[in-house]
Amino acid sequence: MSRYTLPLTLPLLFALACGDAGSASSDGSTGDESTSEGGSTGDTGVAARPNWHEDIAPFVAENCQGCHQAGGIAPFSMQDYAQTWPWATVMANEAEAREMPPWHALTTEECAPPLPYKHDAQLADEEIQLLRDWAELGAPEGDPALAAPLPAPPSLDLDSPNTVQTMASPLTIAAQGSTLDFFHCISIDPQHGDDVFLTGIQTIPGNRGIVHHVLIYTDETAASAAWSGGVKQDCGGGAGVSAPTQLIGAWVPGGLPMEPPPDVGVRLTAGARLIMNVHYHATGGGDAVDSGTGLALRWVTTPPEYISIFNLVGAPGDGDSLTGELLIPPGAAGHVEEYEWVVSAGGQAFPDSIEARVWAVAAHMHKVGVDLRAWLVDRDTGEETCLLHTPKWDFNWQRVYEFDGAVGQTVRVKAGDKLRVRCVYDNTLENPGVVEALAEVGGDAPIEVHQGEGTLDEMCLTAIGVAVKGL
Ligand code: HEC
Repeated sequence: MSRYTLPLTLPLLFALACGDAGSASSDGSTGDESTSEGGSTGDTGVAARPNWHEDIAPFVAENCQGCHQAGGIAPFSMQDYAQTWPWATVMANEAEAREMPPWHALTTEECAPPLPYKHDAQLADEEIQLLRDWAELGAPEGDPALAAPLPAPPSLDLDSPNTVQTMASPLTIAAQGSTLDFFHCISIDPQHGDDVFLTGIQTIPGNRGIVHHVLIYTDETAASAAWSGGVKQDCGGGAGVSAPTQLIGAWVPGGLPMEPPPDVGVRLTAGARLIMNVHYHATGGGDAVDSGTGLALRWVTTPPEYISIFNLVGAPGDGDSLTGELLIPPGAAGHVEEYEWVVSAGGQAFPDSIEARVWAVAAHMHKVGVDLRAWLVDRDTGEETCLLHTPKWDFNWQRVYEFDGAVGQTVRVKAGDKLRVRCVYDNTLENPGVVEALAEVGGDAPIEVHQGEGTLDEMCLTAIGVAVKGL
């Protein structure tokens, strides 16, 4: 992380990356000279395009500033020209490599999902080219008088919540040696008297500088009410209780409210709590306190047309292994585990007159995992419908992917269809996740990995949100 804290090296890096020290100002203050390389400003009075004011500012406002802003999770801000131009080449590189903005559900040779996902953050080829062109021109500022209007940032607030509940007691997050990552579970009491059906869930990060990602579980029996201060520290990758839970949501910085399609609600029984598994990433710059993390929830009390349930399939979840006990030998690359679940309602076939539709899908592995794919196999035709493929799995960017469409357009599932999930692992030092996980436990060579909750255990899971009509 040191490169983020040494701003003086940035102009130098930038100049080296451009292969031309003259293309950017070296003081990093205004970048005024940076247009000289593009060349057109002085001669014609027409600012080189693309430039910051006309092209890049609106682009980063829409695609990058959700995280790259003061106090945000990203290591540098892109809120004005001076902050942004030194990064121009790295921005283009990251965009071309499709590392930024973070988005991991890809269309691949093995997977063509039937519908687009909501809030898809992937950049179009022209947008990536825009960043490249700007970098190659030397990141010109352009003329503020010609500045394009900036798009309003998307509202992260859930519309008309019924309740907003935050953590009961603050947490102090401090780096401990090389350990920067902490997983603490927070119990949230929505204080709903009766059964309710959630139509909107929004995670509210308290300290946006350290809240890296959040998984949301229902806690059906309110087992987490026993936690002192409403918190269970170091609760691993799950909900931190052995009582029944359901993963219903996942959030990453900049994440918009999760809203099932119209006529769909997620059941939350009377008295149930919610558990937030919060991944805190310490800044390394001393203690940081989080006090305001919580949830905004919107619900209806009359059962909607479709009631959504979430099903976990894989390890640990429903279904059978096609590959035997989860065991990843040290040094194994391309190691595969695969699971199959025959779709049922709690083990019982349900009649075709019951309409069930997959409107959301999520993936979960730990840090040895590198690739996960989930797909449905039609019981009658054997036809495959891919739901999700994350060929560049990244533990830090887990989310629930929601299909973008009315519930009636989403994928129908019938009892007897098969849901498969296939996970690929790389248990070598070539995998940065393994290096990171080993560092956390003070190891330096890969070890045999089994199924479990710990950093150096693994899982192979997909969660599907199924909207069932007439439950
Ligand atoms: C959802 C949050 C998020 C969004 C949106 C986002 N970033 Fe980032 N960005 C991060 C985080 C966090 C890091 C730190 C590295 C990491 O965790 O991957 C980062 C790091 C970077 C880096 C430094 C990478 C390096 O190797 O040093 C660049 C460049 C970057 N982002 C460019 C962009 C651009 C360009 C956009 C918009 C097109 C964008 N980011 C959108 C969160 C985000």
